[in-house]
Amino acid sequence: MSRTPLLLPTSLKRLAASTKRGGYQVYMETFGCQMNEYDTELVRSIMKARGFQFTPVDEEADVILFNTCAIRENAHNRLYGHLARYKARKKERGLVIGVLGCMAQNLKQELLETRSWIDVLVGPDAYRRLPDLLTDALEHQRRGLAVDLSEYETYAQIVPDRGNGVNGWIAVMRGCDNFCSFCVVPYTRGRERSRDPEGILEETRRLVSQGVRQITLLGQNVNSYRSGAWSFAHLLVAVADVPGIQRVRFTSPHPKDFPQALLEAVAEHPMICNQIHLPLQSANDRILERMGRGYTRREYLHLVEAIQKKGPIVLTTDLICGFCGETDEEFQETYDLVKEMQYQAAFVFKYSERKHTIAARKYSDDIPEPVKGYRTNEIIELQKEISLQKNHALIGSKVDVMIEGDAKKSHRQWMGHTEHNVTVVWPKDGGQELPGDLVSISIHDATPSTLYGTAHSSCSVD
Ligand code: SAH
Ligand code: SF4
Ligand code: F3S
Repeated sequence: MSRTPLLLPTSLKRLAASTKRGGYQVYMETFGCQMNEYDTELVRSIMKARGFQFTPVDEEADVILFNTCAIRENAHNRLYGHLARYKARKKERGLVIGVLGCMAQNLKQELLETRSWIDVLVGPDAYRRLPDLLTDALEHQRRGLAVDLSEYETYAQIVPDRGNGVNGWIAVMRGCDNFCSFCVVPYTRGRERSRDPEGILEETRRLVSQGVRQITLLGQNVNSYRSGAWSFAHLLVAVADVPGIQRVRFTSPHPKDFPQALLEAVAEHPMICNQIHLPLQSANDRILERMGRGYTRREYLHLVEAIQKKGPIVLTTDLICGFCGETDEEFQETYDLVKEMQYQAAFVFKYSERKHTIAARKYSDDIPEPVKGYRTNEIIELQKEISLQKNHALIGSKVDVMIEGDAKKSHRQWMGHTEHNVTVVWPKDGGQELPGDLVSISIHDATPSTLYGTAHSSCSVD
């Protein structure tokens, strides 16, 4: 960190304190998707290499960072709530406040202008500049902005700074070129680019050596992964072949270009979980067309049929209710298809207009809030019933579960997931089992989201 004669009194005090402690202390909160969680691991690594330290206690911090999400309005509102909390503290203690991620990218100048207490704004492709910008803010009280999108940045050589645990995430591609009309991601994360496979395999081997047993490969549209002759299916199999891996998952594939080779990899490779997240969004062709999804209802069902022919592969989905111009009948088509599809789980969202998107420019956000809310709840309730029925059907049977750690509610219970990604909770029985082990659990109770059981014995998979 550079010292300069221009330091102001608060900066001097802060610099003295941080030097005594061995570096500036950073407190960081993350919102949004798994990709953002992964980016937080990258940011931690970039910052630690420059002498910053992380603290879980915000009161000890010199710097407060928010890694933000812009996908829906409620993601914005949550951030504004948090920011307001730190405005007063900043006055008292001279904190430096940074906003990173998709909202920083999307709202840029607007955030700096309307929230005067934000010091640094950095978008998802500019994290390498963060340490310099923060140092400038801390030592010279300069505000900093870095929101350039890159066609090349994949953070390939940065080793993410992750906690312990048996779950590891790897971003294999960044950005999205699909421009679904409702979605802000192509604007916040820029163009698609893929990491080279060797780097991904090396990261996988390193994670395994750190005790990771389950890897999730991440990308906004993983089917678009391409590096030379490598397709995503090719990469997925290579990752699943790494010795020591027990389970591999991926999210999300796009239904419009789901390759046969990917389906075969899921169906045939023992380490690739038999579960596919296949976002439907709507079951009505006019709405799908307006959304710019690139498939019809028929094409989606055709793909589902091909998947089901391959064996017991479980499907989950995303849905949007109340998109521009959606009639009652069009909504009903989605409702009826959800009933027919019997997804294991569905993430149901109320349409939220996003600035700069195609839908915001082209269509009117004309479905009244109560109608959006009503439709969303209708499908949530329907899906709850379906998930409950599916989970109830497992009562009396045994499922193979990978132990992931303590249950949220009690350290006397383990928590893990089935291959189909259903959460399972069961009492620890004082045996030798550890996180990462695969165990057989006898199920005796179920809710829409969780199975409850007791440990049986070690299970069939090694
Ligand atoms: N790349 C992923 C989606 C990432 S966003 C994919 O295509 O599968 C996760 C989900 O958020 C989307 O599938 C969609 O259902 C929802 N979503 C995105 N933009 C939205 C908006 N403007 N309003 C409501 N839901 C939205
Ligand atoms: Fe958004 Fe569509 Fe890209 Fe998914 S595929 S991130 S929904 S634009
Ligand atoms: Fe993820 Fe939210 Fe950005 S869902 S990609 S953090 S807008």
